[in-house]
Amino acid sequence: MSAGAGRARQNEIYRAGVIGRRPAVPTDFAELERRARKASSAKAWAYVAGGAGLGRTMRNNREAFDRWAIVPRMLRGAAERDLSRELLGTRLPAPVLLAPVGAGQLVDLDADLHTARAAAATGIPYVFTNQGGTPMEQAAAAMGDSPRWFQLYWSTDEGLVDSLIRRAEAIGAGALVITLDTTVLGWRPQDLNLGSLPFAQGLGIGQYTSDPRFLELADARPASTGPRPQVTLAAIRSLLSIVRNHPGSFWANLRSPRPRASVETFLDIYSNPRLSWDHIATVRDRTRLPVVLKGILHPDDARRAFDLGVDAVVVSNHGGRQVDGAIAALDALVAVREAVGPDRTVLMDSGIRSGADVFTAIALGADAVLLGRPYLYGMAIAGQAGVEQVIANVIAELDLTMALTGVSDLAGITREMLCDRTARPA
Ligand code: GLV
Repeated sequence: MSAGAGRARQNEIYRAGVIGRRPAVPTDFAELERRARKASSAKAWAYVAGGAGLGRTMRNNREAFDRWAIVPRMLRGAAERDLSRELLGTRLPAPVLLAPVGAGQLVDLDADLHTARAAAATGIPYVFTNQGGTPMEQAAAAMGDSPRWFQLYWSTDEGLVDSLIRRAEAIGAGALVITLDTTVLGWRPQDLNLGSLPFAQGLGIGQYTSDPRFLELADARPASTGPRPQVTLAAIRSLLSIVRNHPGSFWANLRSPRPRASVETFLDIYSNPRLSWDHIATVRDRTRLPVVLKGILHPDDARRAFDLGVDAVVVSNHGGRQVDGAIAALDALVAVREAVGPDRTVLMDSGIRSGADVFTAIALGADAVLLGRPYLYGMAIAGQAGVEQVIANVIAELDLTMALTGVSDLAGITREMLCDRTARPA
C-alpha cells in the first residue's frame, strides 16, 4: 500500500525535522505570504499580491470558501486514494493546474522556466501565460512531454492572434485558454501608487518579442513625434530594463528603436476592448486545440460558451485583480455548474489557497482548479523548488483531507460532503 501523497509529504518533512531541517517554504498560506513578501521587491509584491480597487473581490473569494464546511464521514476505509482526473484528453495526477500569471519576471527573471520545470517535475500542467518573459518555445523545451496549455490575450491584431495560436499548437499545447476578463487592465491601486507597470519596463512581453507578426508591427510603428520624455534616473533605469529584457545583444538593443517600439506596440495591441462573442465564434476555425474560456462568472455566459462549441470554461475573477466588489469565483462556480449540468468541463480559480480549498471547489462542481499566487509565493522564496513544494503541499493536503473524510477518489467529493454555514436551520 502506498503512503499516498499526503503521508509521503508529511514523512519527508518530519524526517527532515529529525535532523534539524525545516521546510524552506512554509506549509500554511499565511506564513507563505509573509515570507514571500519579505523576499519580494515592493513593485513585485504590488503586482503579484495586489488586487483591484478596495480589494473586495479578493476578500469575497476567501469569504466564499469560509461559508462552506466539510463534513467528514467515518469508517469508510479510504486507505488508498486516487486523485487523478481526466481533463480534455489528458490524465492528470491531481485536479490542479498552474494558472497563467503574467510578469512573473518581477519575482524572478526565470519565472516561466522555474514554473515549467516545477510543473514537469510534478506532472501538473502549466498554463503558459501570454505575458511571460520567456518565449513559449523555450519554456516548452524545459518541460519534456509534460502537459502544457497556452493562455491567450486576444490582441487587436488578428494576425498576431493567429500567430500565437500557431505557436501554441507547435509547442504541443493541450488547450488554448482565452482570457476574457482583461480587455483592459483593472484599477489596481497598489501598482498605481508606485506608478509601476511591468510591461512598460519590458517585463512580461517575451511571447510578443519572439513573435514574427508582433515584430513586423513593432518595426512598422512610426517613431514617436510627441515631446521627448524627460531624462531622469528612473527613465534611464526603465530604458535599461527594456533593452536588457529584449532578445539579442544589449549593445545592439541600445542602438535599436525596436525594444522601445516593442513596449509601445505591446501596450497598444495586447488586448482588445471590443472583444465579443463574434470573435470567439471564429476560434473553432482557427485551431484544432481544445478551447477553454477563462473569466466566466455568469451562468448565461457559460451556457453561451458551450453553445458555441468551446470545450471548457474557467470560472474566475482573475484573482480579484479586475473588478472590485465582484462575485466570488466559488459562488459563481455553484451557479455555473447548476446551469451547464454535470457533464461540461468546468474549472475554477481565484481564492484557492490550500488542499482543503481544492476539496471544497471540487465538491461544488469544479473538475479541477488553477493555482495562482501560492506558487508565485513559493517561487519568491525558493525558485523552482519553491514552486514544487507549494504544489506538493497543496496536493498532500487534498489527499489527507480525502483520507480523513472517507473519500477514495474525486468522484466521491460531492456537494453532500459540505454544509452551508450560513443556511438557517429549517
Ligand atoms: C495579467 O494577467 C494581470 O493580472 O496582471
